[in-house]
Amino acid sequence: MISKNSKKNFAIVGAACLLSLIFSCQKNSPPAAPLSALESRGKGVFMSNCIACHNPNPSLDGSIGPAIAGSSLELLQTRVLTRGYPPGYKPKRTSGVMPDFPQLKDDIPAIQAYLATFKK
Ligand code: HEC
Repeated sequence: MISKNSKKNFAIVGAACLLSLIFSCQKNSPPAAPLSALESRGKGVFMSNCIACHNPNPSLDGSIGPAIAGSSLELLQTRVLTRGYPPGYKPKRTSGVMPDFPQLKDDIPAIQAYLATFKK
């Protein structure tokens, strides 16, 4: 039979579990990790060249351009520098509205690093 005392112990353990659950939930949403130097450079390039059409949150579709979170280096190189696509790639949209940005040649790895910090 469960004594009065052990019932009390259950209550204490139960309350402790509840509290730890609440605290662990808070721990599960830490502030986003700070961006590396490369990622922040990519953010600057993205914010100044891409969000006229793409969503400032690259995981979401923009008004004109599709979601581009997690885009590969190869896709970014062909699309941003030459308006093309890697062989066999199926474009998300086919409006052909996006211009090329050959002047961003050296910034592609930074853009890729920044876009990789978002969920696809
Ligand atoms: C003038 C509007 C516009 C700007 C500015 C723009 N894009 Fe786009 N982007 C588009 C559109 C529209 C598409 C869809 C393909 C098409 O119709 O040209 C696209 C497609 C893409 C794709 C291919 C998505 C896929 O998986 O099919 C990538 C990657 C991309 N853009 C990256 C960028 C980056 C990086 C920049 C900034 C350097 C940028 N875009 C600037 C409009 C734009």
